[in-house]
Amino acid sequence: MPHTASSKKRKKQPLSAAPMVTTDSTTGIRTMAIDIGGTGVKAMLLDEAGKPLTERLRAKTPESATPKAITAIIADFGKQLGGFDRVSVGFPGVIKKGVVYTAANLDKKWIEYALAENLSKELGKPVRVANDAVVQGLGGVSGVGVELVITLGTGMGAALYLDGVPIPSFEMGHHPFRNGKTYEDELGRRALAKAGRKKWNKRLAEAIDQLYRVFYYDRLYIGGGNAAKISIELPKDAKIISNEDGILGGIKLWDRNLDDLQQ
Ligand code: BGC
Repeated sequence: MPHTASSKKRKKQPLSAAPMVTTDSTTGIRTMAIDIGGTGVKAMLLDEAGKPLTERLRAKTPESATPKAITAIIADFGKQLGGFDRVSVGFPGVIKKGVVYTAANLDKKWIEYALAENLSKELGKPVRVANDAVVQGLGGVSGVGVELVITLGTGMGAALYLDGVPIPSFEMGHHPFRNGKTYEDELGRRALAKAGRKKWNKRLAEAIDQLYRVFYYDRLYIGGGNAAKISIELPKDAKIISNEDGILGGIKLWDRNLDDLQQ
């Protein structure tokens, strides 16, 4: 079967958390791309082609990860990074038209929070927000056919695309996967720490197999910090996407064909 996974070692990819180095050689629209995660909040500036203009800034996600606390971190990033024209945010929960519907690994105050609108007021710039897995995938998918992205980090993210356009309210991490546990229970950060790499990889192979039989996707992409912990051989229609690929998603979020997802 083309999607069957088996065991074989993969190379680890380093995560960058270097200090900022701004460049002043750009013209055109500058986008501040933000990724809000359960363990870290990250930001960098991108030029119009999605090329990084700065190193990535990172702050630890506070214990009490409220909208107020995270907004203060983003505002501070904005000051450090300087001149930007618009903002893209990847958020770890369901987002519809800039409003948060779920936030499993952050404070409950996020539920029904108008993130795009409020952050735009705070920063004085237009803001687009989408689920973090959606943003990551926008930078990596080919744009042809049915494509599924899963992200392995604090939580388990998922995004589904038809010809490159994501379904905005798609959420899979909290659905039952096996033994009465959800995908996130079995494949999230806590599960990896508890079960260890070998078992976690075995579960991942099972999940990939199961997901193929749900979506019969044309391609599967796997992103997120723990993608570096994958040691199984992936099926030939699956590949790992790096955080760098994901960053480009911050630019794609502004594509005209995604206007409807935002307003
Ligand atoms: C959330 C998803 C998110 C994922 C990765 C899950 O807990 O429900 O919406 O994409 O974590 O951050």
